[in-house]
Amino acid sequence: EYYSEPHRPQFHFTPEEKWMNDPNGLVYNDGIFHLFYQYYPEDIVWGPMHWGHATSEDLIHWNHKPIALFPDEHGYIFSGSAVLDEQNTSGLGTEDNPPLVAIFTYHNSDAEKDGRNDYQTQGIAYSLDNGDTWTKYEGNPVIGNDGIKDFRDPKVFWHDKTKQWKMLLVAGDHLQIWSSSNLKEWKKTSEFGKEQGAHGGVWECPDMFELQIEGTDETKWVLLISINPGAPNGGSGTQYFIGNFDGNTFTSDQKSNRWIDWGTDNYAGVTYNNAPKDERIFIGWMSNWNYANQTPTEKWRSAMTLPRNLALQKIGDNLELISYPIENFEKVVTKGSKKEVVIEPAHKEVVPFKGLQQSDMRFTTSSRDFQLVFKNQNEEKLIMGLDSKVGEFLIDRSRSGKIDFQEDFTNIMTMPADNLPDGEVEFRIVTDRSSVEIFINKGQYSMTAQVFPNTDYDEMVITNTSDALMKLNNFGIAEVKGVW
Ligand code: FRU
Repeated sequence: EYYSEPHRPQFHFTPEEKWMNDPNGLVYNDGIFHLFYQYYPEDIVWGPMHWGHATSEDLIHWNHKPIALFPDEHGYIFSGSAVLDEQNTSGLGTEDNPPLVAIFTYHNSDAEKDGRNDYQTQGIAYSLDNGDTWTKYEGNPVIGNDGIKDFRDPKVFWHDKTKQWKMLLVAGDHLQIWSSSNLKEWKKTSEFGKEQGAHGGVWECPDMFELQIEGTDETKWVLLISINPGAPNGGSGTQYFIGNFDGNTFTSDQKSNRWIDWGTDNYAGVTYNNAPKDERIFIGWMSNWNYANQTPTEKWRSAMTLPRNLALQKIGDNLELISYPIENFEKVVTKGSKKEVVIEPAHKEVVPFKGLQQSDMRFTTSSRDFQLVFKNQNEEKLIMGLDSKVGEFLIDRSRSGKIDFQEDFTNIMTMPADNLPDGEVEFRIVTDRSSVEIFINKGQYSMTAQVFPNTDYDEMVITNTSDALMKLNNFGIAEVKGVW
């Protein structure tokens, strides 16, 4: 049946078939959330990039649409963004029918093969029918290249204070910020990051937006930068900076490197332009360049994360970027019963649950020392745990199922979880066939990882690893309905 292949996610976005990587062109317009994505329609490995396309009214149920952008004489279509040009500043539409404009990187693979450095340029395309059909701008590329090897992934947004379009563009080891009044002519205004942040790999897929600090009138700007390699648990990951943006220049407030998600499988994530109610909604690609081309699926490859709401909260002495599944997700989570579970020191509670492979488990506890194991009848197990002595949460998928398609896949992942407030906090684990997404304290800490058990996990074991009584409140596992 439809979408019934082994490991096929049931409520995460996947293409019907073939290769997918980064989310692109996330924009809301006239009741529709658009999701474009890096797509290679000929194979299940990376190849000449197109923009695949899907639409949704709620970010949970998706309609597959025809491919939006095909490679042309300027190159493959790499990652980028899309905007609603409401005032028709580009002149590509009319005032009555303002255009959607996509801004993307052209990757000229012939020039790359010739050993040149200037093979990535920026182009635009527009749609006058809310994304159904696209026309490339005849003046492409709108930004050329004077010899920067990695020069890509334009994120454009409207900046109200300066009444200008701003473009974030990565250039190898740093970010460039450009300005325009019409989306066609661009001027570089500043650079950021040569001396800041993690630099284990090239900078990719930038995003930047203003968020209110919850409970205050104060706002801060948040900059997202994906890097590959150089993530804390290996390969690809997304760091963030909190700071200020004066319309031209971004300055960071922070001293240490920070990551939006500590799992190995949340990369190249960016947020929606023009989302209703000023919400900041993030979607990432649920894979890692270490093994993205080798994961054990056949018809399609890889999925997007659940859409997550981003927020800023002051917790302890830190400002934290919070990411938590959007409210609409609750529509497909069945209402289950909740109970209290009490576990003696060094004891465990075994919870058989048939639907564990496609579920949403939640509880609150004040314990900071426990282990959670998802198991199946083949003795395959996914181990997770929190340890207050080291102040870390970990995921061990070394015996979780299919693991030998690439050597890095079995590495244990850890995340410092050392700034949790005292008292009860929520632990939430969402599984969908071949993924697990962990949210601690409503998204103060998150970890996303792929797993490929040979049969469904159907038993959850919680062990109290502290020397005090462990109490789980409102413990429940809910099945999640498929959306296809
Ligand atoms: C990130 C990335 C981008 C690039 C795209 C190519 O995963 O490497 O920098 O535009 O993928 O598919």
